Amino acid sequence: GRVLSVASEYVPLVKTGGLADVAGALPGALRGQGWDMRTLIPAYPGLIAKAGAKAVVWSDPDLFGGPAQVLAGQVAGTDVLLLDAPHLYDRKGGPYGDPGDFPDNAKRFAALSWVAAQIARDGLPDGWLPDILHGHDWQAGFAPAYLRFSGDTRVKTVMTIHNIAFQGNAPAAMLGALRLPIEAFNSDTLEYYGHLSSLKAGLATADAITTVSPTYAAELMRGDFGMGLEGLIAHRSADLYGILNGVDDTVWNPETDPEVKPYGKTTLKRKAANRDALLAEFGLQDTSGPLAIVVSRLTDQKGIDMIVDTAADFVGMGGTLAILGSGEQRLEEAMKDLVKAHPGKIGLRIGYDEALSHRMFAGGDAVLVPSRFEPCGLTQLYGLRYGCVPVVALTGGLADTVIDANPMAQQANVATGVQFHPVDALAFGQALRKLMELHADSKGWAAMQKRGMSQALGWDTSALAYAQLYESLTA
Ligand code: ADP
Ligand code: GLC
Repeated sequence: GRVLSVASEYVPLVKTGGLADVAGALPGALRGQGWDMRTLIPAYPGLIAKAGAKAVVWSDPDLFGGPAQVLAGQVAGTDVLLLDAPHLYDRKGGPYGDPGDFPDNAKRFAALSWVAAQIARDGLPDGWLPDILHGHDWQAGFAPAYLRFSGDTRVKTVMTIHNIAFQGNAPAAMLGALRLPIEAFNSDTLEYYGHLSSLKAGLATADAITTVSPTYAAELMRGDFGMGLEGLIAHRSADLYGILNGVDDTVWNPETDPEVKPYGKTTLKRKAANRDALLAEFGLQDTSGPLAIVVSRLTDQKGIDMIVDTAADFVGMGGTLAILGSGEQRLEEAMKDLVKAHPGKIGLRIGYDEALSHRMFAGGDAVLVPSRFEPCGLTQLYGLRYGCVPVVALTGGLADTVIDANPMAQQANVATGVQFHPVDALAFGQALRKLMELHADSKGWAAMQKRGMSQALGWDTSALAYAQLYESLTA
């Protein structure tokens, strides 16, 4: 079968977070399941050249206020469709605007969704006609809705929630400008407290809804996680699937990673050279305690404030900490203060650095992920893959992918990390204390690293789950 995937980010073309890793990995993963996926993304500056896209496969002289065309290209062996609409996407400042969101983001991504619906319905000039339209997050939320409103029933639709905190709200007055029918402005479809919500529109109209872990799927029906959409999601629970993200082994593998002095689970001792290099890169002293890393957006979701609250204790116990991230200014400032207070013990890079992130997983002993909510989370998976033991909050995908070193798990030799609950600084501090103890037992520690490295974290199982879902929808 054929799937048109629609996303605002795509590895290796454009990335601000895990959505990009997942959107970029899905086509390769699904190919093995007999599904041919092409992905529509906006042609942000430079992408047409990067993807060598030349063939025009769709065009419209007036896409929400300017001319637009879609060019077909290829990256890393996958098919991409780039929506070239200079009035919407030819701008500096990342996919959403930086600093702050572009004021017309609702329109920019409604346009993406509009084009997706057109291509899904009519196909491409080479005869490629999708069976499924698969949209990711609020940016693609209107895509299933436009299809539904156009009366099409041939194309089946799937919406994936990567993060419900972003819902694509816009003023109700934009209804007409966004080419939405007035009848749809009701609380069962796309009205959300007097506004339009593109995510809600997608969740209300898609044939199936997925999210990126089973635990998050369950959490989404609760008031404390659903962010206002819990009722709709609970109502649609029969069509809701929690499918874990995988790790793309061609990008994240310590035996082949070009940023890494190679090691694997049978050559784990060689990880030490990466550790030394990382300490040096961050100007940190070598203690016998664990070198913990943080690779994260610096936001409330990620529980960064809890790192601030526990850092002094952690370095006091002999730990060192290397942090890479960017985000909210108040948290960036708090990180800088930490470094000032603990020179040689805490190191920091503010910014986004893909290559450095690889060196950090290779050199780190532990990765800290104290998220308040985490739909799946990828850094704990990369940690497992690289023998960098995850310390995670018990929530969402973090609950589904790490096996806590509790007494029974220890006795059964199955633990792969440390989990804590409730998600507050006290419990996180206790988890860090446990980390120190586990790390002090060097034999037990190495065994735990190797177990993490042996977990099946690839896309196989999840690709099969997506394929089965597509098949059930098109049967
Ligand atoms: P989210 O998508 O919510 O940010 P995930 O854990 O799913 O969380 O994915 C985050 C992705 O972004 C991972 O691939 C992680 O390595 C990467 N990442 C986050 N911050 C940075 C950064 N400052 N530099 C490099 N990579 C980063
Ligand atoms: C979101 C979530 C993250 C998830 C990623 C990819 O950004 O915050 O938990 O791993 O999407 O699905």
